[in-house]
Amino acid sequence: MVQAKPHPQSVTEALKKLSPSESEQIIQFNHPEKYRTSEWYTGHGEITASGDGRSFEISATYTLRGEVKLVDGVFEPSNPTLAEVYSHRGRCVAIVDRTVDELFGDSIRRYFEYHEIPLKLLSCRAWESDKTPETVHQLLKFLGKDGCDVSRNEPVLVVGGGVLSDVAGLACSLQHRRTPYIMVGTTVVAAIDAGPSPRTCTNGSQFKNSIGAYHPPVLTLVDRSLFRTLATGHVRNGMAEIIKMAVTDDPVLFELMEQYGPQLVETHFATIGGDEELEKIADEVIYRALFSYMKHEGTNMFETYQDRPHAYGHTWSPRFEPAAKLMHGHSVTIGMAFGASLAVEMGWLGTEERDRIINLCRSLGLSVYHPILEDIDIMLEGQKNMRRKRGDGGLWAPLPTGIGSCDYAQEVSSGLLQGAVDKHKQLCSAFPDGGSGKEMYLRDLGLE
Ligand SMILES: NC(=O)c1ccc[n+]([C@@H]2O[C@H](COP(=O)([O-])OP(=O)(O)OC[C@H]3O[C@@H](n4cnc5c(N)ncnc54)[C@H](O)[C@@H]3O)[C@@H](O)[C@H]2O)c1
Repeated sequence: MVQAKPHPQSVTEALKKLSPSESEQIIQFNHPEKYRTSEWYTGHGEITASGDGRSFEISATYTLRGEVKLVDGVFEPSNPTLAEVYSHRGRCVAIVDRTVDELFGDSIRRYFEYHEIPLKLLSCRAWESDKTPETVHQLLKFLGKDGCDVSRNEPVLVVGGGVLSDVAGLACSLQHRRTPYIMVGTTVVAAIDAGPSPRTCTNGSQFKNSIGAYHPPVLTLVDRSLFRTLATGHVRNGMAEIIKMAVTDDPVLFELMEQYGPQLVETHFATIGGDEELEKIADEVIYRALFSYMKHEGTNMFETYQDRPHAYGHTWSPRFEPAAKLMHGHSVTIGMAFGASLAVEMGWLGTEERDRIINLCRSLGLSVYHPILEDIDIMLEGQKNMRRKRGDGGLWAPLPTGIGSCDYAQEVSSGLLQGAVDKHKQLCSAFPDGGSGKEMYLRDLGLE
């Protein structure tokens, strides 16, 4: 028997009953806690039907609860911090900078043995020249099915400098699309800046740090006793990231750096010599630098807002740093010192404040000048790249407006740029070393 087709009128009626499309509908979606599988990430969302039965909008909020802690003796068996994270998980998967492994590997292994936590450790060479997609691939092999097969909620332990925190953080962001990690920064740069940062990356072929993902560690542990074995040149290098926060955000930190900066370099943050008072100053400087940095960086997870004082010194330098083969900190101080001269040209800063900024860098042996600044094509290319990176709206170059404050330059014409370079060159040519500082060049460029 052939069934009669339903009357078109009744189909319309039926659809009308089913469809929510007659009016706009908003559903707030809070996922119940009982379904939550991550200790650190939560989120909720909202879905809004437009009412035309053909489109809807979704908004989602992602929340990460991260923590940054100053600790003493992170690998001392008596320190419970890491054991508390890993003992109930039954193992610790760790990626450790090869040099750090040579220096602290025994302590790290002893720590986990003492706490009876099986340790799977990958020792990874992490030179600036290793900051490549190939290194990220190798790390993914270790984390993935061919290696430790980490679970999506298993925090990987990353122990090393800024190079390792960038590449290992990126590998964690790719593994299962987001695997948490705990960062123990072993250089000054990694402890106060690259380590807690959400910006993980590898270098691109011409532009530093250009390939990456936003993936901050869930826990950052800062133990300045690890700075004892650093080359003094690397302690000095790290000071640049402290100075940038002092100049743009924290005048008290600036004064502490003026007064104690050279001693902190010399004593590796009161780990070689130094008295109790200097130890307190060292902790205060680290805490202030971290707090100021994370206040701006940690709360602006996807860099969607460009009020980023910590980008001071980082506008032109990502282009000239690899071209001149400079150490990161020196390239940043050259960028900051030039930025201070530019701010004077623009009427934003007085010469006395510019001199305080430049003198602070110089008192620590950091560079304030390199002839690559005179290559205007490179400088303009740096600006062009930075406009793309920062979202096309403008240059958003932080420049100081005093000690402890800054504003953002949107346009820097080639004429203004050239004029500021000329003035800066003239200023620096009066210094006995021409503003080169100590050990400005990278040393780890060769192959093993
Ligand atoms: N993601 C970010 O927000 C961010 C911020 C700042 C810097 N960075 C990046 O960080 C990198 C620079 O980091 P870095 O200065 O830590 O350099 P690095 O990672 O190259 O470390 C410097 C050297 O010190 C060694 N080392 C590390 N810890 C040691 C220790 N405790 N004792 C002795 N030697 C030790 C390393 O093996 C390396 O040879 C750059 O690539 C820069 O782009 C990233």
